[in-house]
Amino acid sequence: MNNRRSFLSKALLSLPVLSSVPLFGQKKQVRKPIVISTWDSGIPVNEAAFEVLKHKDGRALDAVEQGARHIENQINCCVGLGGNPDRDGYVTLDASIMDDKMNCGAVAFLEDIKNPISVARKVMETTPHVFLVGEGARAFALKNGFKAEPKELSKEAEKAYKKWLKKSEYKPVKNIELEQNKALKNGPFAPNRFEDGSFNHDTMGLVALDQAGNLSGACTTSGMGFKLRGRVGDSPIIGAGLYVDNEVGAVTSSGQGEEVIRIAGSHLVVEFMRQGKAPEEACRLAIERLVKINPEKARDFQVGFIALNKYGEYGSYAVNPGFVFSVTTEPGNGKVIETPSYFK
Ligand code: GLY
Repeated sequence: MNNRRSFLSKALLSLPVLSSVPLFGQKKQVRKPIVISTWDSGIPVNEAAFEVLKHKDGRALDAVEQGARHIENQINCCVGLGGNPDRDGYVTLDASIMDDKMNCGAVAFLEDIKNPISVARKVMETTPHVFLVGEGARAFALKNGFKAEPKELSKEAEKAYKKWLKKSEYKPVKNIELEQNKALKNGPFAPNRFEDGSFNHDTMGLVALDQAGNLSGACTTSGMGFKLRGRVGDSPIIGAGLYVDNEVGAVTSSGQGEEVIRIAGSHLVVEFMRQGKAPEEACRLAIERLVKINPEKARDFQVGFIALNKYGEYGSYAVNPGFVFSVTTEPGNGKVIETPSYFK
């Protein structure tokens, strides 16, 4: 057998599909490993995560970091430094990560650093703190071996920014990835970039369950394009854009961060799962809570949650139609699933 085939067969042999463990007081079969992520751009992200998850001792924590790094490294994608700038023309990045032991780390308003998710992990693992922001986060990153990248916008972001400057309106568009499909440019991460320079949510959240049965999650974003300078969304806020409780499940979100922060969204979904709700139902209850605040306003923004529980069951729910998420249970089998929504 040639090397590649023998490698593949070894890797696949190490992938258990189902095992049975007692959880929440009952014995239930567990599907693992598994990774789910926001949007259809999650497919290659999940593949990167599976490079870790396919190994028997591969940790969900390493998997979600690798998945997030993968998309941060795509210079034409809006999640990392290639993303849309704030209204003063600077790209500022937010990220958070959480493991199976309630350890968590986050950075926000970080400039010039390519992999904010790894800086967040460094904060988690090497400091007594959870959250570093702005200049302090940048200084911490540089001190820890991260390189400062040139302060220039990607070609696409520059074009979008120039176009935006003509009107200078702050008007987030819901359902970016699907509704404006026709305006998309070519490329694997095209859904994040539009000919007309319109806004998008620029967020990649992913949560994973490894072969040992442990959960972790990561969330990374350049935030809302053309935001006020200094604005931070839900993604780096533990409990809002990301939450993991290894006894229950892991949740992350995409969409208009301000709305997610208002209800401490990801933590709320985990708490609903703790009460015994299935992942989709838990996401739905959180979305209903959010819509109830102002149903008319909710028609005009998008928020979607994705949730994975300790059994490897997953689900998602959004405010408006158009949100999708990606699920992968073995290398190469990623599928995109349409999320049900409150408004039809
Ligand atoms: N959900 C990403 C943000 O609002 O920044």
